[in-house]
Amino acid sequence: MVISFYSASDNDSDLLEALHRQLASTSVTHIIEPWSDNTDPASVVYSISWGAPDNFFNGMKNLRAALSLGAGVDHLTSNPGLPADVPIIRLSDAGMGDKIAEYVLYAALQGHRQFDLYRKQQQQQLWQPLADIDAANYRVGIMGLGVIGTIIADRLHHSGYQVSGWKRSTVECAYPLFAGDTELGAFLKDLDLLVAVLPLTDQTHGLIDKRIFAQLPAGARFVNVGRGKQVNESDLLAALDSGQLTAAVLDVCETEPLPDSHPFWTHDAITLTPHVAGPTQIAQSAQQIAESIQLIESGKWPAGLVNRSDGY
Ligand code: GLV
Repeated sequence: MVISFYSASDNDSDLLEALHRQLASTSVTHIIEPWSDNTDPASVVYSISWGAPDNFFNGMKNLRAALSLGAGVDHLTSNPGLPADVPIIRLSDAGMGDKIAEYVLYAALQGHRQFDLYRKQQQQQLWQPLADIDAANYRVGIMGLGVIGTIIADRLHHSGYQVSGWKRSTVECAYPLFAGDTELGAFLKDLDLLVAVLPLTDQTHGLIDKRIFAQLPAGARFVNVGRGKQVNESDLLAALDSGQLTAAVLDVCETEPLPDSHPFWTHDAITLTPHVAGPTQIAQSAQQIAESIQLIESGKWPAGLVNRSDGY
């Protein structure tokens, strides 16, 4: 059987080599090959991809599952060529959680130790201590308490922060948990830092807008390590410009790469990175993907199976 591989990234060959190695250690008889015009789509039984073009799935009528090279699967759910009944498998942590947790920890430290405000004071040659804030009193709310959200929550908790979470529905959780639309206001109202780590679905598209920012305490901060399309960017700029938000740390934007003329580039309250908070970890991802294919071949579903009606 053929496994078709597509990744628009710079480390394609390393990823492919790791997948070759990991799949060779399973009992799955296969050929894995980069997708090309020469691929017979009907021979493809699994796809492993990130950001594939709209015609990638054309003719893949024997596809047993589409595996994502990332935790997010919006690049698959939005691909018009992928039939609605093909199971999607996302990466479940695979080393990304720790990376993203480090990123969010930086943002929490920047907020609670006010490094960005001190930087501005330095530019003005202002020697002016600001009020000291204890980590134990710094309230961080994680919006999207899934696998990665929980790793972020644990890292922040171990660093002394006061952590809470919000999720669509309630689950067992080590932190104060708010669930659904009805508890969103109660979740937001006491936060110093809102961390968004949501999957992109019909429900979360455009979810983070002026209504969300207005429910945060004045002067709160915002970090987005989920997807840019969840944020109304004009509302974010307005909240920063009015002082309702002090700062934002953004790893994702509505349009990536960020267009040259976009105001985020030069906004002094925005720290911007080019979608690098949680890069795919090659060895762990290849191992998890090979294990997932082996599991599916033995008639079971891996932990990363996406609920297609929820979209994540
Ligand atoms: C990155 O954004 C991912 O979904 O893994």
